[in-house]
Amino acid sequence: MRLDSEAIKKYRKAGRIARKALEKAKEACEEGEKYLDVAEEADNFIWDKGAKPAFPTNISVNSVGAHYTPSEDDESRFEKGDIVKIDVGCHLDGYIADNAATVEIGTNRHGSLIKASEEALGIAIRSIRPGIRTKEIGKNIERAIQDRGFNPISNLTGHEVERYVLHTGTSIPNVPKGWTKIKKGMVLAIEPFATDGEGRVEEGDPGDIYKLQKQRDLDGEDLEFYKWIEDNFDHLPFAARWCKEYGDGYKELLKRQKRFGTVMNYPVLSEKKDGLISQREHTVIVTSNGCKATTRL
Ligand code: CO
Repeated sequence: MRLDSEAIKKYRKAGRIARKALEKAKEACEEGEKYLDVAEEADNFIWDKGAKPAFPTNISVNSVGAHYTPSEDDESRFEKGDIVKIDVGCHLDGYIADNAATVEIGTNRHGSLIKASEEALGIAIRSIRPGIRTKEIGKNIERAIQDRGFNPISNLTGHEVERYVLHTGTSIPNVPKGWTKIKKGMVLAIEPFATDGEGRVEEGDPGDIYKLQKQRDLDGEDLEFYKWIEDNFDHLPFAARWCKEYGDGYKELLKRQKRFGTVMNYPVLSEKKDGLISQREHTVIVTSNGCKATTRL
């Protein structure tokens, strides 16, 4: 796949916005703060910069690994000792940047767990070049995490992104898996997850991150709402709370869409043995002899 210079420019610009949005959210993460305020801080920063969120900001606390975003009336607040993953992504004209980091609230007990995913990401990025197989990248990630005495999460992976598509093509595993060769021009979100638990996540309750499915015989108000979602969120994942703008009836309308099968929502993913999880993520563009992170200074 070839990327022209215009596409690369937009990927980089999206990367800068996503990085700063993540920084803002990290700074806002304090004891007693609401998850909702932190998520909105990041999402609003992205809109203010003229970009759009590529998905709702994920706030995953302790043994939660992914797919949690606060609802409009979510009262959860950070507590001392929490280990919080913030995953933020945005796009400019469909060119996506995705990044994540972990912070600890008010204590300093989980530095090694946090470093495990950070170091794994660094090693993975240094190893990426055209021709490397995904299992070699996964092996590097696994080894870096195990060197610190933790387990990688084997059923969460990094992913290839394409214009307006968040997860596509090649998966980048956190364990040695897959023979796919990396190619120049690929855009990859690399995201090692480390845990002191078993190393697998399982599905819990349905969360507040939604995705549009195929349109099926909708009419009237339902069709109108479906089209509004389509126009506003570009078929990328969206938060229930973003539909507030549509009007007070949005919760009922979303429920109806779910019943029709025209939207789905992702289950929240948590560590199987309730282990604590850390995560770090950058988006990279594969070049002729390595890769360049768009979400890193
Ligand atoms: Co991400």
